[in-house]
Amino acid sequence: MALLHIALLANLKKNAPQVPGMPTDYWADLDSSSTIEAIADALRQREHRVTFLEGDVTLYDRLREVRPDICFNICEGHWGDSRESHVPAMLEMLRIPYTGSKVLALAVTLDKPMTKRVLAYHDLPTPAFQTFERIDEPLDPALTFPLFVKPSREGTGIGISAQSVVHNAAELREQVTQMLEAYDEPVLVERFIDGRDITVGLVGNLVPPVARRLPDDEDAPRIIRGLRFLPPLEISLGEYSHEEGGVYTNRAKTVLADQLAYFCPAPLSPGLVEDLNWLAAATFRVTGCLDVARVDFRLDASDGDRPYILEVNPLPGLAPGISDLVLEANAAGIGHAELVNMILDEALTRYGMD
Ligand SMILES: Nc1ncnc2c1ncn2[C@@H]1O[C@H](COP(=O)(O)OP(=O)(O)OP(=O)(O)O)[C@@H](O)[C@H]1O
Ligand SMILES: [Mg+2]
Repeated sequence: MALLHIALLANLKKNAPQVPGMPTDYWADLDSSSTIEAIADALRQREHRVTFLEGDVTLYDRLREVRPDICFNICEGHWGDSRESHVPAMLEMLRIPYTGSKVLALAVTLDKPMTKRVLAYHDLPTPAFQTFERIDEPLDPALTFPLFVKPSREGTGIGISAQSVVHNAAELREQVTQMLEAYDEPVLVERFIDGRDITVGLVGNLVPPVARRLPDDEDAPRIIRGLRFLPPLEISLGEYSHEEGGVYTNRAKTVLADQLAYFCPAPLSPGLVEDLNWLAAATFRVTGCLDVARVDFRLDASDGDRPYILEVNPLPGLAPGISDLVLEANAAGIGHAELVNMILDEALTRYGMD
């Protein structure tokens, strides 16, 4: 007898709506059928019954028919400034439990500038920044070149290439114009952090009660209880061709994914790993993440590898053998199926369904 009826909710690349003139990387963050099959297999290994449902406009009615016990949600969404929140919002209206972060956390973290405002409020280190909603906005004099230009609400390196690093006002205007035209959303311009690319995955939930306000006192204990940190992964940027410009680009994440060059665990001092884990936990906490997340950092080579938080991914990719989180789990001896079930177990515990 099946233990639970789980609806696996995702947006498949092959089902994505197509609009003429769309940039080629527009749907790069959606999932492939092989990832969905691997997740479904993982859940079935625990005797659960699994039904895949596409997270599109038909989902609400389908959920009312299927009435799953819980959903394993990895929907990235299609449209709008809070697209990752659409499916969780439906699930809350229908009072169906689901894995991972909820509506507010998914809306905030999809928007990188909004996430950075939350981080800055808590004195968590994130590169200085400005957003551009129009091409003619004056550059904040506090920002000095080189700068990094990226879309505000994308993932999988969408819009990110060697040209994202800009060295003067002309390059900045050119890149901001292109990003505004291609993605029709505010453009994030950040201080360029020259240094190593590190990402930290974590599974779990902080043990309550946990306030969203971090203590001002630097000597306050670092709250991390309930979280399991996976070994940090470093993208070996030096091994990619000059075309990528020392940046973890969309091309590197998609076309060149099978040549992914990385170290895991990243060669870092134990003290730095502890600091990164704490920063990842603090980011998870103040943005309200649940069950799983991956926090991306750059280490500033000009300042003793000082870590800067670039973003938090509450729906990190789960492609076997490809996604950073899966590679980190593997380095800790955790296979894909076990990772998927760890995420499910966290949600079941939260809902008192274990
Ligand atoms: N301020 C910055 N300074 C230097 N490099 C940066 C900066 N911001 C981004 N990058 C580079 O671009 C890459 C992608 O940035 P970011 O993590 O913000 O994008 P993403 O598309 O959301 O990533 P993901 O695939 O994790 O969703 C980083 O890994 C890094 O190589
Ligand atoms: Mg990233």
